[in-house]
Amino acid sequence: MDIVSDPGEIRTRCREWARCGVVTGLVPTMGYLHAGHGSLLRLARERADRVVASVFVNPTQFGPGEDLDAYPRDLERDAALAATAGVDVLFAPTPQSMYAPEAATWVEVPELARYLCGASRPTHFRGVCTVVAKLFLLVQPAVAVFGEKDWQQLAILRRMTADLGFPVEIVGGPIVREADGLALSSRNVYLSPEERAQAIHINKGLELAAAMVAAGEADPAVVLARVRGYFASYLPDGTVDYLSCVHPARLYSLERIDGPALFAAAVKFSRARLIDNRLVDAVAPPR
Ligand code: PAJ
Repeated sequence: MDIVSDPGEIRTRCREWARCGVVTGLVPTMGYLHAGHGSLLRLARERADRVVASVFVNPTQFGPGEDLDAYPRDLERDAALAATAGVDVLFAPTPQSMYAPEAATWVEVPELARYLCGASRPTHFRGVCTVVAKLFLLVQPAVAVFGEKDWQQLAILRRMTADLGFPVEIVGGPIVREADGLALSSRNVYLSPEERAQAIHINKGLELAAAMVAAGEADPAVVLARVRGYFASYLPDGTVDYLSCVHPARLYSLERIDGPALFAAAVKFSRARLIDNRLVDAVAPPR
């Protein structure tokens, strides 16, 4: 596996691959790789001739006062994990090489970015879209893989890709969890032992929502009230940023569950803000 830091070099390499008909798969990451990232790398490996993983803690998607400087970094460990997962090239640029000081162009999907995480992180998704669009232009992948853990990000990037006509197939990978159900995240290292013990209840609360819907409850307000109560009891050190039941692709809040619906939550602990989600489907009415 090669490690490339120069955007010009990755462009030249990937352009040459594209010229030869090579199918390139891209897995964008911010590094500090874990088994969730590993599963996306494997999905890319299955679908592409060459796999490029990027490791870039993208400054433009962090708001003022967020954890840009504290974000965990370990390129050596990431390189070892990526090599094991069959990555051909690890692209690890510097912020200076990705953004000119006078850079003033943004790619935005405001219609979808205003919901869920976007409500408390208003500039986050334009940073994500801008960097992913730049990565698409540099790497020219046929396939790009993103995790369903960041469901809103995946929905926004699908919209961006379709709207701008990038010839890239967007593939979503399922959420990888710890044995106790906590969704893997690079930010889990921020949790104190007490917070870590409580954090499993985010997933458990979402499971409760899924069980209620499976039992026939179709009113999101009833389900959300129950899960809010559960969170209040079991997440005493967490502050719920949002708990919502939304349309899976368009992300607006649902008034009734009569088809696929996404329950999504964000919970803030002292240093970590964790997100999780669960896709449910309405039970078919009896014939
Ligand atoms: P990062 O948080 O490093 O995540 C990289 C990719 O891994 C994302 O597509 C994310 O959804 C996925 N991922 C994270 N945890 C996962 C888990 N437990 N199971 C499955 N997939 C998981 O998301 C970003 O970086 C950035 O916003 C990025 C897209 C790279 C743009 O900077």
